[in-house]
Amino acid sequence: MRLVTAARSSVHPESLADELLARLRVHGAIPRHVAIIMDGNGRWARERLLPRPLGHRSGMKAVREVVEGALQAGVEYLSLFAFSQENWQRPATEVGALMSLLEEYIAREVSELREQGVRVRVLGDLSRLTPAAARAVERVVGETAANEKLTLNLFISYGSRAELVRAMRALAEDVAAGVLAPSDIDDAAIAARLYTADCPDPDLLIRTSGELRISNFLLWQIAYTELFMSPVLWPDFGRRELFEAIVAYQSRERRFGRVSA
Ligand code: IPE
Ligand code: IPE
Ligand code: MG
Repeated sequence: MRLVTAARSSVHPESLADELLARLRVHGAIPRHVAIIMDGNGRWARERLLPRPLGHRSGMKAVREVVEGALQAGVEYLSLFAFSQENWQRPATEVGALMSLLEEYIAREVSELREQGVRVRVLGDLSRLTPAAARAVERVVGETAANEKLTLNLFISYGSRAELVRAMRALAEDVAAGVLAPSDIDDAAIAARLYTADCPDPDLLIRTSGELRISNFLLWQIAYTELFMSPVLWPDFGRRELFEAIVAYQSRERRFGRVSA
């Protein structure tokens, strides 16, 4: 095992990523929708005796890399959990730093995302964003709306239970207005009222930083999603780690409750 690690680390990480990319393309089954819980920025900073916001800043580079990797691999939907509804409880300085980073990310990346064919959508309770962050979000969503190569869902101020509550209220309102019968409520009626209404469910969900939990992300949508828990802290996650997760995904047998083939 130690030998394997040594051999791997002697190879340039970029060429290793390209090798993996070639391998997963031959294999064929590219997940249409990859979702990622981007975790571990704080620990990454702490290990370096840096303030937490610097960990978040380094995490931006990883976002750039996985978007690039998703485009190269031919993933159609990439969902990134960037800020949860529960994260509003963090200290105001950290929340402020995250909002500023969101603005900075958009300002820096918007033209490249547009040129690369990425359609950006921002999903969550956006009423809580600062006015400047809300303007940045509106800009990137508007300027990339016509793109079709990759849909990048940024989940900000998002909680899956809150999303379900919102959907249930919408259903109740339709029933109260007489446009929906209780017997019409089925999986599709619920899915149609989620932020992800026009996305297929994730095929692969990655969580970084070694935590083995879902932390209120896409609870409805991941019913049959393949899970990949990576020990890597988010700022160190890159194309190579994304491709490794996809290679692992390609060896899974998805049964959806049926017997194996
Ligand atoms: C993930 O990193 C980013 C957000 C949740 C905003 P964390 O900030 O949760 O980092 P850790 O988990 O404390 O290391
Ligand atoms: C999940 O990470 C949310 C995001 C990555 C945005 P957290 O760090 O907030 O989750 P817990 O607190 O470890 O469950
Ligand atoms: Mg965390």
